[in-house]
Amino acid sequence: MNHLYQRDCLRLLDFTTEELKNIITLSEKLKKIKKNHQEIKLLKQKNIALIFEKESTRTRCSFEVAAFDQGAHVTYLGPGSTHLGTKESIEDTARVLSRLYHGIQYRGHNHRTIEILAQYSTVPVWNGLTEKFHPTQLIADLLTMKEIFLNKNFSDIKCAYVGDSRNNIGNSLLEAASIVGLDLRLVSPKKCWPDKNLFIECKKLARKNKGNITCTEDVKEGVKNTDFIYTDVWVSMGEDKKKWKERIELLKNYQLNDSMIEMTKNPKVKILHCLPALHDQKTSIGKSILKEYGLKDGMEITDNLFQKHQKTIFEQAENRLHTIKALLISSLVKEINF
Ligand code: CP
Ligand code: NVA
Repeated sequence: MNHLYQRDCLRLLDFTTEELKNIITLSEKLKKIKKNHQEIKLLKQKNIALIFEKESTRTRCSFEVAAFDQGAHVTYLGPGSTHLGTKESIEDTARVLSRLYHGIQYRGHNHRTIEILAQYSTVPVWNGLTEKFHPTQLIADLLTMKEIFLNKNFSDIKCAYVGDSRNNIGNSLLEAASIVGLDLRLVSPKKCWPDKNLFIECKKLARKNKGNITCTEDVKEGVKNTDFIYTDVWVSMGEDKKKWKERIELLKNYQLNDSMIEMTKNPKVKILHCLPALHDQKTSIGKSILKEYGLKDGMEITDNLFQKHQKTIFEQAENRLHTIKALLISSLVKEINF
């Protein structure tokens, strides 16, 4: 019996260690199957609703391609295209969509919205990013770590996260580390540390799973001997543009650059980034913010380092597809026989 059948995924703490590891194992199998052109369509006649209140490239495309590969159909509901929360309550929208679809993906501004959606829908609800959590991203990141260190247990992997540790990626990485037992260091100024209660809960669980979680302001101490350094944008989607000034001031010493790499004392250290990244001036936001604040070499990561480590970063992006596919199958197929 598949224990994830009909289950929601609002955050990673919805899963036990075994359940999360099973999703990763299934993702590995599905990746191999796709590369060998041996896809078996397990989601035929399933319909999936994709609600996006914010922009997306990776998450939307991964849900769509995963569904298509598996024979399911999707409806993309972009920003402003439903009555959700304006002319129709979240509760009623959940009830309607549950009559038409077998599962609902939600990306939006308010985590409370997805909690209500899940409470009132009778089909699985998956979080494609809220201001608090980004669970599907972290499943892909764990798969990427596992692929790089085939012979290591998660509890032997040391990862530092540099940047805004209280954002959706920071929170989900904290939960991921606690469930699989990573050695995770959240490296940020105190103002950017995660919620204390979440931190304590995750630290306790991490210990049980042979991991360790620490917060530090000290970059040298935080990144020392790490296998991975993970970073994310300093201002997230939905945050006020005015935040840039304050965030740059707070985080400028936490940029992923060559001197930080030296501090790891590990020349083989790998870099992770959930993307999109502000590493150059080839985007309108990158151009205007980097110019406005006189930043010459990227924001959260220098262009040089981004280019050097792009193979891992884009593998991480590809892994969104395989892991989201595993999540869809786990929630929608009663018995999985491979
Ligand atoms: N990493 C990620 O969620 O990317 P998108 O915003 O493009 O979906
Ligand atoms: N923290 C970022 C993650 C993007 C995938 C954001 O919310 O914009």
